[in-house]
Order: sequence, then structure tokens, then C-alpha cells
Amino acid sequence: MSEPEPKWTVAVPAVSARDVSVRRGEIQALRHVSFEVPPGRLTGLLGPSGSGKSTLIRAIAGVQAAVEGRLTVLGFEPGRAGLRRWLGYMAQSSSVYEDLTVLENLRYFAEIRGAQLGGLLERVGLREQTHQLVRRLSGGQRARVSLAIALLGSPRLLLLDEPTVGLDPLLRRELWRLFGELAGEGATLLISSHVMEEARHCEDLLLLRDGRLLAQLTPDELVAQTSTTDMDEAFVRLIERA
Ligand SMILES: Nc1ncnc2c1ncn2[C@@H]1O[C@H](COP(=O)(O)OP(=O)(O)O)[C@@H](O)[C@H]1O
Ligand SMILES: [Mg+2]
Repeated sequence: MSEPEPKWTVAVPAVSARDVSVRRGEIQALRHVSFEVPPGRLTGLLGPSGSGKSTLIRAIAGVQAAVEGRLTVLGFEPGRAGLRRWLGYMAQSSSVYEDLTVLENLRYFAEIRGAQLGGLLERVGLREQTHQLVRRLSGGQRARVSLAIALLGSPRLLLLDEPTVGLDPLLRRELWRLFGELAGEGATLLISSHVMEEARHCEDLLLLRDGRLLAQLTPDELVAQTSTTDMDEAFVRLIERA
């Protein structure tokens, strides 16, 4: 079977979901979700804890079992081997090696992906921690090691599951700036967060609640439709209206 060559035109969505549902044990984690993620943009996947964000990202990354409905990634079935090099996935739980230094972790994953390190550590603000053991890092620094690993090989589609959770406000702002830069360079980003305020940094929003897609819209449209600039309040008003 030949390697998939993704179609990078504006006409082909980076992700397309039609009536996607996922059951996890007794829980219906996603319920008939349909949307398209436009290429080359920064899309925020926002919703409270338990709303299905991680399940959806896992489904797109091709690691979630029992996905029903029709889901395509760059025009292909999720999880297809050749798709991997186009994807960068940062899971919510850290998958870095505690007993290796930052650089050793990066080199290890770079070898697996056949990628160059380039200036990645600088880019995520970890240059000073290059030779530190991961187990001695703060939570925020660890998250940035995972992020650097997701960025290896300059993937065209980045799936980042709560990459800014627990970080200090300054660092959060820097990371959102980096995400904006990456989108500016042509990457497609799908970034989840349970912090509604982060909606401001996104170009498009997917709002989830109880496994259902509440709305897909831009931050400006959200403000216009709910008559408030308070993002938590905007979310509440959308729910009340729905
Ligand atoms: N491994 C699992 N087994 C069973 N249910 C799960 C599992 N992981 C998550 N869930 C449930 O699926 C729903 C969606 O979870 P999740 O996708 O992790 O939401 P979020 O990322 O928005 O917090 C929640 O009700 C959660 O409790
Ligand atoms: Mg989650």
C-alpha cells in the first residue's frame, strides 16, 4: 500500500468529522459530532472537564478505540501508518522519560521520527534546561518537553491536548504566541483547553459539552452571539440558548 500523500489545499479540511460518536465503557464520551477543521489555522477545542476533548483528539490521532461515524484526517482514515509523519500529537498525560535529560528525550524521539532537533528547545523556551533530568523539571517545563516532541519534524497537523494547563500566565501567553506563529507558517493546530478565556487566542472554536458539539464559530462570532466578552459567561449563554 502506498504512503498517503495528504492534500494540502484550502479545499480539503485537515479534519472532517461526520456524526462521530465514541463510547468509553459505560460513558458516551462523544455524541454525533460533526465539524471540519480548516487547514492552516489555529482551532481551539474548548469545553469543561469531561466534555470529550481528549477523546476527540485521541480519535483524530488514531489511538482511540470504538470510533463510530466518519472521521478523516487530511483525507485519510485516522491512524494510517503513513499519516504519522504529518501529525504531531501531544497527549494530556506526559509521555517523556523521567530519567533522561531534556536533550536525551528529544534526541530519542527525533531518531524515532527521523527528524532534526533544529532550534526546538529554544522555540519552547527550554534552552537552559537542556541537560537537566526531566524528573527535576517543573510541571510547566515538562509540558514543554512534550510540546517540543510533538513539534519534531515540523508536522503539518498539530494535536495538542491541554498544552497550557497549569502554566503561569506569562508562559501561557508565550505558548499561544508560538502556536500563532506555527499557524502563520502554514501548520494546522487543534488545541484543547478547559479554560474558556483561551478562546481569545484562537482563530476558530469548537465548543464541546457532554460529548456534544455546542457550536463551531470564531471568537468574534461567539462574542457577537452572546453579547459578552467574558468567555465563561459566553459559554454559559450558549448552553442556556441551546
Ligand atoms: N478510559 C476511560 N474509560 C471510561 N471512560 C472514560 C475514560 N476516559 C475518559 N472517560 C470518560 O469519557 C468522558 C470524556 O472524557 P475526556 O474525553 O477525557 O474529556 P475531557 O478531555 O474534555 O476532560 C468523561 O465522562 C470521562 O469520564
Ligand atoms: Mg482531557
